[in-house]
Amino acid sequence: MEVIQVNNLVKYYKTKKKVVKAVDDISFSILKGERFGFLGPNGAGKTTTIRAILGLLRGVKGEITILGEKINPNKDTVYRNHIGYIPGELGLEPEFNAIQICKYLSELYDISFNLDEIKNIAERLKLDVNRQIQELSKGNKQKVGILTALMGDFDILILDEPTAGLDPLIQSEFFEIIKERQEKTRCTVFICSHLLSEVEKFCNRVAIIRNGKIVEISKISELKEKGLKSFQLEFTSNAGLMEFVQYLESQFPSASVKSQSVNRIEFLITPEKKRNLLHDISEMQWAGEYIKDFNINNSSLEDIFMKYYEIENPEEER
Ligand SMILES: Nc1ncnc2c1ncn2[C@@H]1O[C@H](COP(=O)(O)OP(=O)(O)O)[C@@H](O)[C@H]1O
Ligand SMILES: [Mg+2]
Repeated sequence: MEVIQVNNLVKYYKTKKKVVKAVDDISFSILKGERFGFLGPNGAGKTTTIRAILGLLRGVKGEITILGEKINPNKDTVYRNHIGYIPGELGLEPEFNAIQICKYLSELYDISFNLDEIKNIAERLKLDVNRQIQELSKGNKQKVGILTALMGDFDILILDEPTAGLDPLIQSEFFEIIKERQEKTRCTVFICSHLLSEVEKFCNRVAIIRNGKIVEISKISELKEKGLKSFQLEFTSNAGLMEFVQYLESQFPSASVKSQSVNRIEFLITPEKKRNLLHDISEMQWAGEYIKDFNINNSSLEDIFMKYYEIENPEEER
């Protein structure tokens, strides 16, 4: 069953100086229980897409369906009791503490919340729930945002850069918490994050958006299958390595070398080339000796996606 459907979504922002096409006719759908990563460089249109899904924008073109019903942007809170949401930028009541914020939102959106769960998550994230929002650092404010998104038993979690400003230990604890939650409730998770290694572990499907358009959408396993292969080879001598480097340059000029030391090399090649190379590696000798050791891996999501992040000044491109 499709939990979120976005069809031909378009959103322009008009300011005095110029018109920005933030989202340029995108369509995708997310199935129940999916862990969907929505990736892309800053300014790509992720937050705009999310705000449209939540009915928080005006002047949106296209069609959005949530839990089988078309949303009406003018009744934006209708689904909020089904959706846990961490906004990219928090607008929180400065004098409330974390628990008061949760109570306030639960009344506003008719969400039943579980105080023990909130306290437990706060403890894991190392957040003091008795302190006023205005006293908290950026990272600790972000933790309050996380609490509000996890306070109820939501069908959908929409997480816009949930770990921004958190230290590395808390970042991984956060991913542990949502992984446990998702496994327990089978909720649908839609997450934007630049932590590609965590996204790779957590998500089962990802889309990448760039300049307001979706340029790739695929299961992580498929992406990795068709992505570049990473070879790590070890030679018994530097002479062997040097001979191999010459061979690689002449036979596989498209290979990209990631690192090289006295007797080791790591490089990426396309999957079609893998078989020929494997044959030669095992059969041939290098400076008179067979290869000492080798390792082949699928390249990481980071390697696969880095090319999409290489945009200079995305805000100025349009
Ligand atoms: N309120 C706004 N007014 C004008 N332009 C905006 C506004 N919000 C976002 N934009 C522009 O829309 C584009 C997409 O922004 P956004 O959706 O926030 O990207 P992302 O979340 O991927 O970083 C950017 O060029 C951004 O500058
Ligand atoms: Mg954003």
